[in-house]
Amino acid sequence: MSQVSYDAPSRTYLLTTPATSYALRIGADDAPQHVHWGAPLTLAQAVALPTHDGVTSSFASTSGEELAVEGGARFGVPSLLVRYADGARCVEWVHEGHEIEGNRLHLRLRDRHYPLACTLHYAVHKDSDVVERSLTLRHLGTDEAEAPIEVLRCDAACWSVPAAAGVRLSHTVGEWAGETQLRRTEAPYAETVFTSRRGLSGHYGNPWVMVDAGDATEDRGDVWSMVLAWSGSWRITAHRDHTGGPFTVTGGSGHDGLTWRLRPGESHETPVFAGQFSRSGFGGTSRGWHRYVAEHVLPRPDELRPVVYNSWEATGWDVTLEGQRALAERAAALGVELFVVDDGWFGRRTSDRAGLGDWHPNPERFPHGLGPLVQEVRRLAMRFGLWVEPEMTNPDSDLYREHPDWVLHMPHRRRTELRHQLVLNFARTDVTEWAFTWLDQLVGTYTIDFLKWDMNRALTEAGWPGNPDAERLWSDHTRGVYAVIDRLRRAHPGLRIEGCSGGGGRADLGMLARTDQTWISDNTDADDRIAIQHGYSQIYPARTMSAWVTDSPNPHTGRTTPLAYRFHVAMAGALGIGGDLSRWTEAELAEARDLVALYKQIRPVVQHGEQYRLADAVQHRAGEKVVVIAWGRSRSLRLAGLSPSAVYVDDATGTEHDAATLLTHGLPLHLPKGDRPSTVVRLTRR
Ligand code: DGJ
Repeated sequence: MSQVSYDAPSRTYLLTTPATSYALRIGADDAPQHVHWGAPLTLAQAVALPTHDGVTSSFASTSGEELAVEGGARFGVPSLLVRYADGARCVEWVHEGHEIEGNRLHLRLRDRHYPLACTLHYAVHKDSDVVERSLTLRHLGTDEAEAPIEVLRCDAACWSVPAAAGVRLSHTVGEWAGETQLRRTEAPYAETVFTSRRGLSGHYGNPWVMVDAGDATEDRGDVWSMVLAWSGSWRITAHRDHTGGPFTVTGGSGHDGLTWRLRPGESHETPVFAGQFSRSGFGGTSRGWHRYVAEHVLPRPDELRPVVYNSWEATGWDVTLEGQRALAERAAALGVELFVVDDGWFGRRTSDRAGLGDWHPNPERFPHGLGPLVQEVRRLAMRFGLWVEPEMTNPDSDLYREHPDWVLHMPHRRRTELRHQLVLNFARTDVTEWAFTWLDQLVGTYTIDFLKWDMNRALTEAGWPGNPDAERLWSDHTRGVYAVIDRLRRAHPGLRIEGCSGGGGRADLGMLARTDQTWISDNTDADDRIAIQHGYSQIYPARTMSAWVTDSPNPHTGRTTPLAYRFHVAMAGALGIGGDLSRWTEAELAEARDLVALYKQIRPVVQHGEQYRLADAVQHRAGEKVVVIAWGRSRSLRLAGLSPSAVYVDDATGTEHDAATLLTHGLPLHLPKGDRPSTVVRLTRR
């Protein structure tokens, strides 16, 4: 069956995914109206459905349109706001036609009078219930002398959820060292704005929301979820209308108050704001997103992520050739596969006060460059990785002294320093050219396998003196970052990248489309990590979640925890080690070696399997294999997602378990005695 179908008499479109349908219709005034998003329907059934009549009534707030505009009796949240050169606002659509290209629908609209065109894009996939939506805005003028159109807001899409379900919102809040804390809250009868005004997707909220009727659980219930693939400022506005209009969620890049000009002949592509409907609760919703990210977002989903050692927590700024060599030797002996030197290897970067922008090895610390260390790491049979923060400069740097105009700044305004650093304007092509050139040389010179791309501060005084349309840089900075990373990957196909932003300040689908994993938090305390990882896992898959084992007491929290517990919590993602191995005892090193070996055995299941969040446990299943990582206390733990007729054998003990029993009465878990007991159970289907 075709994934996109069209009924010409009623002007109704139907998108079909494996388990859901999405329908829209061109209304009497040519505006595209939402019709259905939920359980599967035929085209004939979709055609028979009514459209919401919000636009003709001055009493309704939400219009139920696919892209709410300003104009007519529309009083809800506009997804598109423009101002023309003569001062007029509003949009009056003319439906120009459509293209259906396999799994894609492009719906062409044009303003009745002004030179503004808009194409709404929809894409569905055979292996996913995610519907991808975005739009292209085009100025139809052909002469440069024509006036631009001012864009006050341009969201990627507006989603409508059946009103009865629009009562509860799930999302994350957070902060530095406390990212992705899951919250579920009843939606008020009002507009609820989720946003980042920082120029990065942010620690404080992640660009997604889920909507349910308040009755969904981890295992069951209808959940509508929407995720924005964007790494800069963003805004998602949910609107619960007390008059019975549809619950709407409009979202896109940029925060409130930014305006920019669409020039004659110019096209503007929004990021994708993707949506998924699931009948399988929050767990099924997350697994749907994990599959989608693996199949349609990540550049190299197929590869197993290596076991990393990162020296940041061990050495801080005190980076020396000898110190790194000693750590590399110990890391290799544990079974580490990739050794990463973090901040402090370059320029005069002996603290956070200087050196950002001067991307050459510190001559005192590495008098012969990085070559000797790279050779040593390779001799130890590990790959070599390096930390960079290309978007930043310290005022105390040769780069800033030479190019003070390259940073974001405004005339007569202070240049606010955060962590003693300023943001380079990646909307400037001379800046992105400079960044690509040094990164290309660095990666090429040492055949670097892995970069940790960090970004440690928000944008402030985001101006570009002399540029008449400077507010574009809020989005063009992000596009500049994307362009440099994309070009770098093309130039160095073997290069792998970890996205990072002072921990998890830029963990989103935009970065994941061009990176391999994410550093989700600077907080490496295993107790705290459980909540952070839980929030991250709502959308993003385990294979992208970098998780290190560090020292105890934990440097951030001072909390003392057992080594096995720290490992087990980190083993639910892409395992790394970040502790000061020079201080680990022989017994700790031996235990760590065994745990790394265990991780390598379970890694294909954890990284490529389906994840089920259980109470104080995470279960991963791939093919015949099941891995359960559990903490807390001895108990029977009910497993999920197994075929009830199957029989599973415990790899360690040989004990047989009927899946029917595992699903109902649970897996008997025998945790060791002592502080924070934890365990890993491996089962294989007989
Ligand atoms: C913030 C990152 O999250 C840390 O892991 C570390 O790389 C520091 N930056 C280095 O400055």
